[in-house]
Amino acid sequence: MASILGISAFYHDSAACLVVDGEIVAAAQEERFTRVKHDYNFPVNAARYCLSEANLKAENLDYVGFYDKPLLKFDRLLETYLDYAPAGFSSFLKALPLWMKEKLWMPDLIRTELAKTGGEDDERAAKKLGKQFQWKLLFGDHHESHAASAFYPSPFEEAAILTIDGVGEWATSSIGIGKGNEITLLKELRFPDSLGLLYSAFTYYTGFRVNSGEYKVMGLAPYGEAKYVSVIKDKLLEVRDDGSLKMNHEYFSYSQGLRMTNGAFDKLFGGPPRKPESRITQREMDLARSIQVITEEVMLKMTNHVHKETGMKKLCMAGGVALNCVANGRVLREVPFADIWIQPAAGDAGGALGIALAIWHRYLGNPRTSPEAAGTWKSAQRNGNENGSNDWGNNSLTAYADGMKGSYLGPRHSESEIEKFLQSKNLPYKKYSRSELPGVVADLLAGGKIIGLHQGRMEFGPRALGGRSIIGDPRSAEMQSVMNLKIKYRESFRPFAPSVLRERVSDWFELDTDSPYMLLVADVAGTRRRKMTAEEEALWGIEKLNVKRSEIPAVTHVDYSARIQTVRRDTNPLYWEIIEAFGKKTGCPVVVNTSFNVRGEPIVCTPEDSYRCFMRTEMDFLVLETCVLDKREQPPLVETKDWRTQFKAD
Ligand SMILES: [Fe+2]
Repeated sequence: MASILGISAFYHDSAACLVVDGEIVAAAQEERFTRVKHDYNFPVNAARYCLSEANLKAENLDYVGFYDKPLLKFDRLLETYLDYAPAGFSSFLKALPLWMKEKLWMPDLIRTELAKTGGEDDERAAKKLGKQFQWKLLFGDHHESHAASAFYPSPFEEAAILTIDGVGEWATSSIGIGKGNEITLLKELRFPDSLGLLYSAFTYYTGFRVNSGEYKVMGLAPYGEAKYVSVIKDKLLEVRDDGSLKMNHEYFSYSQGLRMTNGAFDKLFGGPPRKPESRITQREMDLARSIQVITEEVMLKMTNHVHKETGMKKLCMAGGVALNCVANGRVLREVPFADIWIQPAAGDAGGALGIALAIWHRYLGNPRTSPEAAGTWKSAQRNGNENGSNDWGNNSLTAYADGMKGSYLGPRHSESEIEKFLQSKNLPYKKYSRSELPGVVADLLAGGKIIGLHQGRMEFGPRALGGRSIIGDPRSAEMQSVMNLKIKYRESFRPFAPSVLRERVSDWFELDTDSPYMLLVADVAGTRRRKMTAEEEALWGIEKLNVKRSEIPAVTHVDYSARIQTVRRDTNPLYWEIIEAFGKKTGCPVVVNTSFNVRGEPIVCTPEDSYRCFMRTEMDFLVLETCVLDKREQPPLVETKDWRTQFKAD
């Protein structure tokens, strides 16, 4: 018996995760509670929530794990500074106070902060209380935490492991093997050579925010041409056959400065970085395409190498780069692994989950029964609808069991909590029975309405998966620009993702496997595509955006690809039933799914967050469990200041 709290903090996307006797009970990112996107402060609120999910207090814990080793990280900063001295002096000085104040005193700090989860606000009293905690505090290696988050919750009994991110302590990528409850890391690529930092350098240069705009670069890539691939390969890096990189650091300044790229880089690509929020030109699209092409090549080489080196049939991945779902789709199709599984919280938030599971299995030596060994999962699900049954209600699929519970690991708000909130604010709503609700929502969707859907537990990780989502009709040609401009207040090129019934995925997409976490990209099925006219083919860049390319244009990217979420009834019954009802009504068992937030805002958590976001945008209806709110009936939202200034553009 053991209760273990995993923590990741102080770099990017702080999070907490509670594991009780090997089961992931709860996990959440701090940003959802503080409403500060990518909040990197100690996750007091997330930890408080995780403890409450199991009715525990901080003093009841047996172990607390931190996802990396601050001393080793400090060692890297110091050594890198010495390598580049005096060039990196200013960034070193800037980083130093935080290190002196917080990171090097981590054990004391963790104790004090966890004392605050019980409501103790006074710093001195919290410090005193923290000292009395009896639990043991352990620190993991950054990439070991990623590796543990990739393998332990996977369905596999044994698998190869690949982690790829910007940087942890020293490693920027690692490969290894997971078997039963053991993880062995075999090799690593070290700072400053890093696929993650390379991608981030182009994110910075194309005018987006590092550690958050990488997703936009990937979305922009299909509008561009891979014009810069040869110059990148000639000047910036060498890609070896095993996928490892040797970067030319004359062009990058992340080792010594606060910028990612330098004057030599500017010269190579014909000018300074694009100013954030200025117009995106064809150059940015071509750069995005080029770095995406390189990334895919590196990932294919890495995964092929891992396949050969380990002899494993299956692959698990984590680390921020594993969120590059376009590259993942290619790995699935082109590398001879029988199956791949990717941790949905692939970034540093997932490190909290990794360290907690690593303590349970590796440190405490507890056995792990994989769904594969237990017979609750089998690889054959890759072939989906095994019986060829088209009966939608009859779920003929093999159960999909991994340890993530669909990544629905965050807070749930009960019907009574929701009604109490709505009544306290005098907000008009209509309550439906659980069985009526899917049909009601499907009718609204078919009528072109855009709906905020808040139901069940909040998702852990960067993607909304039907728990805190905005949904719409994918058959509508205008839906993409309406949702981008009037709902999300973000760039019009940003693509939207489809949620599709798992049973029907191969009817609509060139994919016949589970993609429950929206981490695989595949093309829209040929039969669903629309042939372009010669004039449409000739369109360039962003002009291509408004051309109807398929029966589901709102989720079909300009290159016919889609970032797919497959939905199973056993994992998210209400969401599945809504899509099924919409499918029965329209013949299209697919909805548009985008995260429930506006640009720069963390995804909503509570009913209050959802209502506020609903009222600030042009969403038509809000579904809070079985309560449905019509925008036209709501009293005007009174706010003292313009909310657009609250969230920094991401
Ligand atoms: Fe990381």
